[in-house]
Amino acid sequence: MSSCTYNWIVEEEVIDPGDPDAPDISFSVEITPIFASKCTGCHQPGGQTPDLTAANAYNSLNSSRYVNTSAPETSLIYTKPSPTGSHVKYTEAEAAKVLTWITQGAQNN
Ligand code: HEC
Repeated sequence: MSSCTYNWIVEEEVIDPGDPDAPDISFSVEITPIFASKCTGCHQPGGQTPDLTAANAYNSLNSSRYVNTSAPETSLIYTKPSPTGSHVKYTEAEAAKVLTWITQGAQNN
């Protein structure tokens, strides 16, 4: 019981994107709700690109402009809402989920 691999069980805990035992992040279950809660007010059909509404988010992001699975931490969908700058930001836990999703191959899951 000395390891820290149980951290992720607590929902608000920040997961470690570099941890090979990190839980699988589901795009539809864990990522689109983040977008719905704080992004789609602006990022919606006919609004600011990328369109992050649940129906369109995966297709919107399926582009090297937004996602780089070779260097996940450089992905614009991860870096744009970063703690610096004036754009809307992720919480630390949200950022970790997005980075983990990209690290795991940015699947439509
Ligand atoms: C208040 C409106 C607003 C909200 C809310 C918002 N954004 Fe944005 N976003 C913008 C605007 C305006 C731009 C374009 C200007 C810029 O790049 O800063 C932008 C740009 C972006 C870009 C770069 C687009 C490109 O093609 O260069 C990404 C990625 C992005 N937002 C993601 C997000 C995410 C993820 C969220 C939620 C965490 C979010 N935005 C919430 C207004 C918003």
